Amino acid sequence: MSLTHPAHAGRTQLDRDTVRIALLGCGTVGSGVANLLIGSASAIAARSGVAFTLEAIAVLSLGKPRTDRIPRSLLTADARSVVLDPAVDVVIECIGGTGVAADLVETALLRGKHVVTANKDLLATRGPELRALAHARGVTITYEAAVGGAIPIVRTLTASLAGEEILEVGGVLNGTTNFILSAMFEGESYASALAKAQRLGFAESDPTNDVEGVDAAHKLAILAQLAFGRGLVTSEIPRVGITRLTPDDVTLAKRLGYRLKLVACARRDASLVTPAFVHTDHPFAQPAGPQNCIRITGRNSGSLTFAGAGAGGAPTASAVISDVVAVLRHIGVGRHVGILPVDDSLTPVTTAHEPSIPLPRIVRLHSLRDARPAREALLAAGFQARALDGVPAIRTERVDGEAPVRIEAILAAHAIVAQSIIPLWEDVDPHAYQEGSHV
Ligand code: HSE
Repeated sequence: MSLTHPAHAGRTQLDRDTVRIALLGCGTVGSGVANLLIGSASAIAARSGVAFTLEAIAVLSLGKPRTDRIPRSLLTADARSVVLDPAVDVVIECIGGTGVAADLVETALLRGKHVVTANKDLLATRGPELRALAHARGVTITYEAAVGGAIPIVRTLTASLAGEEILEVGGVLNGTTNFILSAMFEGESYASALAKAQRLGFAESDPTNDVEGVDAAHKLAILAQLAFGRGLVTSEIPRVGITRLTPDDVTLAKRLGYRLKLVACARRDASLVTPAFVHTDHPFAQPAGPQNCIRITGRNSGSLTFAGAGAGGAPTASAVISDVVAVLRHIGVGRHVGILPVDDSLTPVTTAHEPSIPLPRIVRLHSLRDARPAREALLAAGFQARALDGVPAIRTERVDGEAPVRIEAILAAHAIVAQSIIPLWEDVDPHAYQEGSHV
């Protein structure tokens, strides 16, 4: 049994123009989407100008207790039948991951159904391929919710900044790690902050992806695919998570006038996810708790900063619904929505020939035994000799016989902690690129 939008509830037979929507997954995000589709059906139909019905909600467990708003009659445990159903026009995928969800999304596209998804893992690993498939089938795959929760960043990149040459994109992209680091800044332990993030629904089902920087790398891959028109995937992004950070590192950041953040950034030929010391005045230092901050720097636009709720059921569901409205409009008017298919052959909007701007480097110092090689390693890694001059003595400490040495140092604004350099975040300067040809 389907749920018909109230404006059409009196009809005995569905109008052939009525769009039929099915939802896959009813967890933290999926249940938020279901509640909005049902509770805000009139507004969604009015804004899109298209009548729709919610045909089915595929769930893992039919017996799980659920909110009253979701009629039991819509639930099914057979997701595959839903995507094979010729009556379904639009599939909203809120299962997540690259397993069963990938198969269902691919099948839906192959069957000529529009797909709306919040699945960053899938887009980050198979985005170019799925967009090409959607394009070939004459349908759309939209994923505003895959990056930055409620922050409208995907459509900003693909539509609002379609004429811009992007120099850099990224920022604080993972709510869970930002929640943990914010709590540690206030003196809370890593373990208790992580447990709280899981309870509040920010963390992934396996939080390893959050704390090891995989989730941030997924989101960065998606942003880079859109910003630079190339098929960057997660496995190509150098990545360090937050699991090795200690309360001492947070204290050190405080003492230096910095915040410790997990920063994910991409420039044209470089990408990076790393804990970094970010000056308290910098936009990346501002997000608290599960908030995200995403900055796009364009040759002509300069820097544009977007901040807001990056994780959680309601903000993410809001972004999913924005895609639903876009797809309904697209179907309704029979033309492309704002999110155009992007493929690997898309030429970036650029006439520039400058080399890409280097990102801060991640340097591992596993084998260092004293201060002199530490300094040499830093120089070899591209740190400026000037920055290393006149700094307090570098202190090294052997942890045990064969174990790596722990090195602590304050090198101007750079610090080395727990076998890794935590870089000081350095910005790209768009003004340095104002000369020469423009778009
Ligand atoms: N686990 C993710 C985060 C959820 O913490 O940002 C939103 O993508």
